[in-house]
Amino acid sequence: MAAPYARVGEPRTPRPLPDAETLRVRDRRHVWHTWTPLDADRSALTLSHGSGHHVWDIEGRAYLDASALNSTCGYAHPDIVRAIAEQAARLHHADLSVASHEPVGVLAERLAGHAPPGLDKTLFVNSGSEGFDAAVMMAVSHWAHLGRPRPRIVTFARGYQGATLLSRSLSTLPRNRHLLDTPLPVTRVELPDEPRALRHPGALSALLSAFEEAVGHDPDDLPAAVVVEPFLNVGGAVVLPPGFLRGLRALCDATGALLVLDEVFTAYGRSGRMFACQREDVVPDIIVSSKGLTGGYVPLAAVTVHNRVYDTFAADPVIGGLRYGHTTSGHAVACAAALATLDMLEKLRLPERAEELGACLLRRLASLAGAPGVTDVRGLGLIAVVETDSEGRADRILARARDCGLLLRRIGSAVVAVPPLVIDDEGVAAVADGLAEAVAYTAD
Ligand SMILES: Cc1ncc(COP(=O)(O)O)c(C=O)c1O
Repeated sequence: MAAPYARVGEPRTPRPLPDAETLRVRDRRHVWHTWTPLDADRSALTLSHGSGHHVWDIEGRAYLDASALNSTCGYAHPDIVRAIAEQAARLHHADLSVASHEPVGVLAERLAGHAPPGLDKTLFVNSGSEGFDAAVMMAVSHWAHLGRPRPRIVTFARGYQGATLLSRSLSTLPRNRHLLDTPLPVTRVELPDEPRALRHPGALSALLSAFEEAVGHDPDDLPAAVVVEPFLNVGGAVVLPPGFLRGLRALCDATGALLVLDEVFTAYGRSGRMFACQREDVVPDIIVSSKGLTGGYVPLAAVTVHNRVYDTFAADPVIGGLRYGHTTSGHAVACAAALATLDMLEKLRLPERAEELGACLLRRLASLAGAPGVTDVRGLGLIAVVETDSEGRADRILARARDCGLLLRRIGSAVVAVPPLVIDDEGVAAVADGLAEAVAYTAD
């Protein structure tokens, strides 16, 4: 089938691949795909290469990639590719528990420059999930070091902080439920079933009251931290009411709980700011970020911490510092990729561009709000969400769009468009047209 929503250009030097069937058979025999039913065949879409906001499959079909959670800077960007190659040729790795290297220092300094004031220290890990394990451990240890233990965490019931045992145990999402009990006491705040209810008058104060109740007033049972995502990705593509983060900051200030923000998805421009908390001028105690940090070129996550939390770690009774890390923490090649990515974000003003392009995309999608099967249209930065009345309908929309050369994501019954931030006006128009066509095609 023709791919009207993909602008077919010349891909950069694609490597010749074995024939499609060989790749598929190998995949089905040996690859265990993440978060996938065993009877699903992910090899049906096998990608070969990408350029800008397009990817090509092994049969040469082009797609506009609006499913790009991580690929904020697009595919095969020569500056990022060069930075990775040069760093790999110079010094690919040093264990940070033994030594340091230039790119990790420069990156940590630049993150401190972009983060809200006081968040001057960064621990690097390899994924958002690990970032949460570290952040939760830091928050609980912080209180232990102060001699006032607080083991409890307050968070969204539908939050998603990751797949490791600790990060997943914060959530009650069915996919995160595990056979093991949570290692920490957690108080979880429910959200309305319909995310659009969060735009009703009174929704903000109801949500903040629920958090206040969850935090409580018992001085012997206050939480170590309140952990939230500024936009709930896996938990239903939920846009939170403006003012929510500011309200949480005030609650944390009143009770001493640390405010830990999950900016794994929202940071580095996706939310329309470098960090989503900057939309409300909020200074968290800890920010965990990942995906856009290297634009998905190399795995890397950052746990960026306020000095007042960092400073308490001198009192750690075992090593007088942080008892956490991986041998690949702050990997030099990943740091070089992140520096090249930050260069692009700054030079091309990608956060501002995401805000403008996202507003344009939502304007174009607004007319879908009354379409058959569509229950809501919402968004934040360059994240556009078209909520439908069922998971089946959302799946059909994704399938039709893909047949027409447009890749989208599904979260529950919501269809989500997250193109690279380097997409152009023409690309945004193609995403809106492709999504509208797929909605109309699948109308009953
Ligand atoms: C908001 C949020 N937090 C945490 C994570 C976990 O990150 P990772 O998949 O890198 O472990 C994700 C992943 O999708 C996420 O969207």
